[in-house]
Amino acid sequence: MLEHAQAHGGLPDTKTRDLAGTHEQIVLDRHDVAFDVETSSTSSTSSSFDEKLQRSCSPTLVGDPDETDYDDAVAADKANVWHHMLNQRAAPDALMITSGKGLRVWDHRGKEFIDATSGGLWTVNVGYGREEIANAVRDQLLQLNFFSQNAANVPGARFAEMLTSKMPGMTRVYYSSSGSEANEKAFKMVRLIAHQKYGGKKHKILYRERDYHGTTLGALSATGQNQRRQGFGPLVPGFVEVPHCYEYRSQWGEVDDYGIRAANEIEKVILAEGPDAVGAICLEAITAGGGAIVPPSGYWERVQEICSKYQVTGLSGVRCAPLATSTPETTSCLLANTC
Ligand SMILES: Cc1ncc(COP(=O)(O)O)c(C=O)c1O
Repeated sequence: MLEHAQAHGGLPDTKTRDLAGTHEQIVLDRHDVAFDVETSSTSSTSSSFDEKLQRSCSPTLVGDPDETDYDDAVAADKANVWHHMLNQRAAPDALMITSGKGLRVWDHRGKEFIDATSGGLWTVNVGYGREEIANAVRDQLLQLNFFSQNAANVPGARFAEMLTSKMPGMTRVYYSSSGSEANEKAFKMVRLIAHQKYGGKKHKILYRERDYHGTTLGALSATGQNQRRQGFGPLVPGFVEVPHCYEYRSQWGEVDDYGIRAANEIEKVILAEGPDAVGAICLEAITAGGGAIVPPSGYWERVQEICSKYQVTGLSGVRCAPLATSTPETTSCLLANTC
């Protein structure tokens, strides 16, 4: 089994700590478990599947609060983790962040950073080390740590009530674990509405050049950044691009009414695709990764008019306020993940 693990690059070469010894054993067990699942009755190990699974889920696996041997952790990261948005050949050691307090974080060498990116992805908006949040999470984990969404739970009901009370026109919340997943759900709803109300028509989803909507295949198909899409085709059919609204890189030179002009391009695409084919448009309220683009004045108003005219539902990406949906018919509950 050791050979099996080493062949898969799962073990660092040297281990000097006690904890490392434990970790090594667990890594081996994880391979054992995987091996057992694949080969079921042909397992060569003596302990039961349940015992192995229990050991493989031991808390020592998920990080030791007293961890000080960071060089070893860096080696473990390098050998075992795929950072899918880093060029690991160019910069093989990922930055290892080990703690945070307020708006500051520290790396494994003790270097202090002001975290201007809110967790690297605009998600830690309340800052680090908030004891009241840690306590509330701890209490809830002990009360009820998980149950699937086919049953209700109290915090879910209360939080949804709070969210909808703050967002007029929105009537339901769907909980998801990521922005990509939230967008997938919204796209599926558009398709479902197309089938149930329009005989399969109105299934196309427009997206804007430069916007980012996630890493799963559907969300990537709605992402207007070619570099991110390269190498992953064929993408999902039924997604159609509309021009960006980045005035600094104006497609029409200097114009007075850039915002309206950019929005009017959406109408052109709807007419070209056929208003009976277009069901929704997915837009970041402020394009983030594609250039921090705040739509110019007049843009949203014109987008809203166009959506109402052609009964096109507006979907908005994560980390932004959800866009009010456009027609009473198709509306009301398209709320992407708020992380
Ligand atoms: C606007 C927008 N939509 C979708 C996503 C995807 O979210 P996640 O990374 O949680 O899947 C992101 C992530 O950065 C985002 O900024």
